[in-house]
Formats: sequence, structure tokens, C-alpha cells
Amino acid sequence: MTFAPLANDTFLRACLRQATDYTPLWLMRQAGRYLPEYKATRARAGSFMGLATNVQYATEVTLQPLDRFPLDAAILFSDILTVPDAMGLGLSFAEGEGPKLARPLRDEQSVAALQVPDLEKLRYVFDAVTSIRRALNGRVPLIGFSGSPWTLACYMVEGGGSSDDWRGVKNMLYSRPDLMHRILDVNAEAVAAYLNAQIAAGAQAVMVFDSWGGALADGAFQQFSLRYTQQVLAKVERSRGGVTIPRIVFTKGGGLWLQEMEKLDCDVLGVDWTVNLGRARALVGGSKALQGNLDPAVLFAPPEQVAAEARRVLDDFGTPHAGPGTGPTHVFNLGHGISQHTPPEHVHALVEAVHTHSARLRAS
Ligand code: CP3
Repeated sequence: MTFAPLANDTFLRACLRQATDYTPLWLMRQAGRYLPEYKATRARAGSFMGLATNVQYATEVTLQPLDRFPLDAAILFSDILTVPDAMGLGLSFAEGEGPKLARPLRDEQSVAALQVPDLEKLRYVFDAVTSIRRALNGRVPLIGFSGSPWTLACYMVEGGGSSDDWRGVKNMLYSRPDLMHRILDVNAEAVAAYLNAQIAAGAQAVMVFDSWGGALADGAFQQFSLRYTQQVLAKVERSRGGVTIPRIVFTKGGGLWLQEMEKLDCDVLGVDWTVNLGRARALVGGSKALQGNLDPAVLFAPPEQVAAEARRVLDDFGTPHAGPGTGPTHVFNLGHGISQHTPPEHVHALVEAVHTHSARLRAS
């Protein structure tokens, strides 16, 4: 497969701790319901899975935010729950209710029967990656992604999101750690194969979303989340055709474990808004880039406040780059996904402020 050369490689360079003229930015969930054009395509597709499984639609919605804002990366339009779906757990999204899995893992038999899925069932994802990469035509790099083994297990055991306490999955973790480890081991193998297939299809960076790692107790996090994320990373291709594929790991609520996460075999650590980027940088040292971490709620405020808060995040990180190959560097993002209630004009103010202020920081 050959694709057009990259016109803007700022994001990839920052991931690999190379010098850039400004701080690149993209937004978690940048394609989504805060955009009227997304809602229009979703209405045509009929459902979220109708969107995600149709290559044309998935390509169209991935590019929508890039047509509005000068973002520095695209992210595959899909969902982390495509993997449990391919494992036969039966995914659906009811309007306004979040994900549901029809056949959650509730007993020993269902855990014993769990297997790495036939990747052919996820062909629509890999086809979307190739189609998006073609449509981008070198504008910006394309990020592929997966849930972490632990975060997928949360949904697989609960059968959906949890209103508060993840009671089912934590009960299994403490009562039957053997079952939990079996699920996580299968998930780690599945996630690694899934990410490798995305890389083969054209993904230029990959991100592991450990959205619920922060729900775990200290000790449990290391044993049930971090360890299996590392198992994934150990099996994901480092490069393709001689080009390095940067890896990002984002643990929501993982700020207290940054020093342990620093040992992961990845290039970038994503952090949420509870973390001060300057302090994170001091803790992590020069070996990783950092991604984050504006509170998505800032985007509800007027554009001037949005710009001021964006500058504060950039200032917290500090001078972006100490010299060739020395890092650390910063990839600007939100601390979690953008809210569906965000006014799109406020995103304009954010992108403008990040690009302008970060270029100014480098000049000073
Ligand atoms: O633009 C992008 O970032 C790419 C697309 C993307 C989606 N989901 C699309 C989506 C990505 C990267 C995800 C990851 C995802 N999905 C995560 C990890 C990131 C995070 O938010 O912590 C998780 C936990 C999920 C599971 C999931 N999918 C939930 C909890 C929900 C419902 C909540 C919500 O925001 O609606 C979804 C649905 C979903 N995934 C939507 C989108 C655009 C909204 C569905 C719709 O259009 O109705």
C-alpha cells in the first residue's frame, strides 16, 4: 500500500520528542455529536454502528473536524467496543444511552469460552483505516486506537457502562482473580492483533485508551491494567516500512501512577486535567512525550476564557523542547473526550490559541 507523503508531520514529530515549530493538537472524540454535520451523517446511517461499519460514512465523519479546524491529527472513527462485539458479545448503542453488550461475561463458562476474535469480523475497521488514509491524502497523520484490556473488560463484564462503582467487574476481580486474568490475557492478545492490523491498513500512530484504569485501587491498577497494557505494547509493531509508529497510552485518572507508567514501552503518556503538566514532566523525565490535558468543560466558557486556559496548559508544560532528540515534548489535547454540548466556535478559539501561543513560547 502506498499513500501520499505527509504535508504536516508535527504530531508524529512531537510524539517522538523531536523539535516542532508549534505544539500540535487534536481532540479526543473530535468527530462527534458537538458537530451538526456529524449528526446529519449519523441520521443518514441510522445508528452509531451503521456509521462505524460503513467505510464511506466512517471516512466522511473522520474528516469533518479537519475540514472545520486546522487540527494536526485525525483519529479513526470507530469505537473501543468493536473488539468485544467481534468476540460475540453483541454490541448495540441505544440513542442517548451509551453502549450495551447483549451477552456479558457473567460466569465461568462464558469466560472459558472467550477467544481472540477472527480479525475478519473487524475487516470494516481496517477498510475504514485505509479509506481514511487515502482521503487524508497526506494532510495530517491518522491515529488508530483500541481500548486497554482492562477498560474492555469493564464493559465486557458489566454489559455496558457503570453508573458509578463498576460493581460487577470489581467483584469478579477480587472474588475470582483467575477469571479476570483469563479475560485480560485474551483481551491483550486481541488488542495487539487489532492494533497491528490497523497499522498494516495504514494507521500512523496508535493509542490505547485505558479510560477506567483510574477506577482501580493502587496495586490492582498495576496488576490488572498496567501489566496487560504492557503485554499489548510488547506485541505491537514498532515500525512499518521503516517508519516508526508512535504509541500513546492514556489512563484516565492515572496521574498518581505516572512514574510507573513511564516504564511502559510507549512514546507518549496521555494525562487528564487533574495533572499539572509541569509536574508530570518533572516526574516522567525526558523519556516520554506528554499528551493532554485541558478540562473539556473549559470549552463551555466564552472564547477568551478558552484561549486563556489553553495558554495556561501550555505554560504549565513550559518550554517545549530542550534540544535535538532530548524531549520531552507536548501534544495538546483535552483531558478526556470533547462534550457533545461544546459550541464548535469555541474549538476554533482553542486551536488558534494553542498554535499561536506555542509558536510564541518557542520564539521567546
Ligand atoms: O473522534 C474520535 O475520538 C474517534 C472516535 C471514538 C469514539 N469512541 C466514537 C464514539 C473513540 C476514540 C472512542 C473511544 C471510546 N469509546 C472510549 C475510550 C475513550 C473515552 O471516552 O474514554 C470509550 C470508553 C468508549 C465507549 C463508548 N462509546 C461510550 C461510553 C459511548 C457512549 C457515550 C457517548 O459519548 O455517547 C460510546 C459511543 C460513541 N463512541 C459515540 C462516538 C462519537 C457517540 C455515539 C453516537 O453518535 O450516538
